[in-house]
Amino acid sequence: MNFSPRVFSGIQPSGDLHLGNYLGAIRRFVPLQHTHETIYCVVDMHAITVWQEPDALRRATREVAAAFIAAGIDPKKSIIFNQSQVVQHAELAWIFNCVARIGWMNRMTQFKDKAGKNSEAVSLGLLAYPSLMAADILLYKATEVPVGDDQKQHLELTRDIAAKFNNDYAKSIAETGAANVDGEFFPITEPLIAGPATRIMSLRDGTKKMSKSDPSDQSRISLLDDADVISKKIKKATTDPAELPSDVEGLAGRPEADNLVGIYAALSDKTKAEVIAEYGGAGWGKFKPALAELAVSVLAPMNNEMRRLLDDPATIDAILRDGGERAGAIAEATMKDVRNIVGFIR
Ligand code: TYM
Repeated sequence: MNFSPRVFSGIQPSGDLHLGNYLGAIRRFVPLQHTHETIYCVVDMHAITVWQEPDALRRATREVAAAFIAAGIDPKKSIIFNQSQVVQHAELAWIFNCVARIGWMNRMTQFKDKAGKNSEAVSLGLLAYPSLMAADILLYKATEVPVGDDQKQHLELTRDIAAKFNNDYAKSIAETGAANVDGEFFPITEPLIAGPATRIMSLRDGTKKMSKSDPSDQSRISLLDDADVISKKIKKATTDPAELPSDVEGLAGRPEADNLVGIYAALSDKTKAEVIAEYGGAGWGKFKPALAELAVSVLAPMNNEMRRLLDDPATIDAILRDGGERAGAIAEATMKDVRNIVGFIR
């Protein structure tokens, strides 16, 4: 037995989805449906590592599901579900809490950023967050995980957890007959971090990542912004005064220009070099309106579709339930082996 190609990725329902989530992740999920078995998860259990109002969490969960569908993910082809429906995520995360080391968690830059100076007062869940993320991925023995650049360290940790589990339990894995040809139970997952949009930056400051937590609404384009707002935010984006360079190397040291060219490239499925071949030498007075028009042409129809779907929450909930059942069947098959490997009696 070897691992069959399977893609898993997750998005937190914690506040507004933005252009970085779309270009760094959701848009890239769509074509993978045609080449891989694909599982896309709304990670509501990750979201509550920081406080979420229950009603806001429900709304945000449906919003992420609506974004998946509006972006072109087909809930029949892919599995779309919210994490908490499949209780095995929590079960495997506990086992991984006992495999991973506290030192590994303390080294996570995302934890350090979120906890700040207050690391004694944040939730225990925030520290253990990467262990749950490893459980998300490995429950499905996913071989590839498309994410933005900021998740790279978490995926390295997932590989470390898989390797340590495979190693610690090697004898038991062999006895259960659940190993692949190399004696592994869990695959060593490959991150898929590629393309021009792995790290979309703030529209106000090209050195800061576009993020849900930035206090300035002008720093990001929300997937629920309408055409007018999208266009205004792009036209107001901070830039340096120089025109666009004549080759892609000329973007080095110009974070705002690099970011806007990257956004154009990702929205039009081109490389940055192709965008520069078209717009090299152009001033912002030409490039920004072109980018605004492109962004509106891609995002406005998606925005309309998201709103249409959100008007009918029962249909979204039914899709999530159906996905949860399909995901649950795969998850339970993995957990049957895991319980056996670990030595739990059932
Ligand atoms: P989250 O919810 O913060 O972000 C969801 C996805 O969007 C990507 N992303 C970006 N990409 C480019 N530029 C940006 N400015 C930007 N901001 C966010 C993220 O890299 C991510 O791919 N821990 C994860 C959720 C998660 C997960 C998983 C992902 C839980 N379990 C299993 C993959 C596999 C997170 O907080 O993503």
